[in-house]
Amino acid sequence: MPSYDVIIIGSGPGGYVCAIRCAQLGLKTAVVEGRETLGGTCLNVGCIPSKALLHASHMLHEAEHNFAAMGLKGKAPSVDWKQMLSYKEDTIGQNTKGIEFLFKKNKVDWLKGWGSIPEAGKVKVGDDVHAAKHIIIASGSKVSTLPGVEIDEKTVVSSTGALELGKIPKKLIVIGAGVIGLELGSVYKRLGSEVKVIEFLDAITPGMDAEIQKTFQRTLKKQGIAFQMGAAVQGVEVKNNKAKVTYKLRKDDSEHVEDADTVLVATGRSPYTDGLGLEALGVEMSKRGQIVTDGHYATTVKGIYAIGDCIDGPMLAHKAEDEGMAIAEILAGQKGHVNYNVIPGVIYTHPEVASVGQTEEQLKEAGIAYNVGKFSFMGNGRAKANFAGDGFVKILADKSTDRILGAHIIGPMAGDLIHEVCVAMEFGAAAEDLARTCHAHPTYSEAVREAALACGDGPIHS
Ligand code: NAI
Repeated sequence: MPSYDVIIIGSGPGGYVCAIRCAQLGLKTAVVEGRETLGGTCLNVGCIPSKALLHASHMLHEAEHNFAAMGLKGKAPSVDWKQMLSYKEDTIGQNTKGIEFLFKKNKVDWLKGWGSIPEAGKVKVGDDVHAAKHIIIASGSKVSTLPGVEIDEKTVVSSTGALELGKIPKKLIVIGAGVIGLELGSVYKRLGSEVKVIEFLDAITPGMDAEIQKTFQRTLKKQGIAFQMGAAVQGVEVKNNKAKVTYKLRKDDSEHVEDADTVLVATGRSPYTDGLGLEALGVEMSKRGQIVTDGHYATTVKGIYAIGDCIDGPMLAHKAEDEGMAIAEILAGQKGHVNYNVIPGVIYTHPEVASVGQTEEQLKEAGIAYNVGKFSFMGNGRAKANFAGDGFVKILADKSTDRILGAHIIGPMAGDLIHEVCVAMEFGAAAEDLARTCHAHPTYSEAVREAALACGDGPIHS
């Protein structure tokens, strides 16, 4: 029986990063993956393909709205949807092949097929059984469905179907104003669809800083996305490739029906652990279907560990990656660790939205006194030159120590800008430390510095 130090089930960002780190640390490692390509949901049907479509549709938006003002005259480009999808496929291919290359380079074996765990220390793939000292489950998550809504991936789609629609819909209804709904809703709005988002709560992007939520929703409305807030979708009926969405308003229980060509169900994801045999093994699961782990990613069965979307915490690729690195280091006898207080969250719309650490609402609830430093991109020269003055940077710092507790950005390149605050937070920095750091001019990052200055004596450019 082939034998490994570590077998990882799942090759998404959690699993493949974990495998490479295990191999780098001298552990004989294999990854079980049943898909045709490596990379899991993120690379094949998630983060990477959606970013390709977000980029392409943003380019179209720039051409339609800003080129003429810059003196770039001419007809705006038309959309060749087939070509756009093939650009997206190429992007996926380059990334998934990249992981295959990294596996070969690091001598990580790919066990092709769907894995299960017949007993601790063994992984079954097809008819083959492999022995492993340690088994790491990195099996990810799947789309959560709604009662009364059947996903056919044609008319009623999950994010997977939304990335390969046969044509650009005339009218798209998005159920759920979370990250997936707003990112993909933005794509189709820019490609010409009428887009309406139906959301159960009264605010979009649950858990985000409330001021950002409001500004973000206002910005999306300005871009032409319609919202029906406080509405619970009851069901979707499909006839002749058209959908009828029924929803109830929470305020008065009134029922409404709305037609759409395509419906995107984006109401969350749940852990994917089907077929692993965890119940028979006695691995403890939470009520929400997550694998229960201790602080070192150990499940309740010795020798079996779990990371990423199938355990507790935010369902984010980079959280899974960091957990993958940490468990690899722990198994190699080092001190792997993830700082859950400094995990950035990014929404890749235009403008982007990014946050790290605590929101104002969380600080108020915890009774922590804080200073707010805010700076608008309107005061940033680079942003103005690039038609990107919408949005702001907000830094929250402890009132007595000035230590940075959180940062929330809506604006150009927010997903990149957030990382200087992440590094500062990892080092326990004060807002003054950021404010005293020289920032190159003219860059968007000056807005971060100005927000840090605003926590103290005040920004310069506002
Ligand atoms: P989500 O949890 O972010 O948002 C789902 C929304 O649907 C919530 O606002 C909820 O109130 C609403 N909802 C639920 N049931 C409803 C109903 N019956 N009627 C109307 N509204 C309803 O989930 P989403 O957007 O599907 O994303 C899933 C996961 O994937 C999240 O954990 C997200 O963080 C992750 N993700 C992250 C990305 C990123 O980091 N850029 C990109 C895509 C996904």
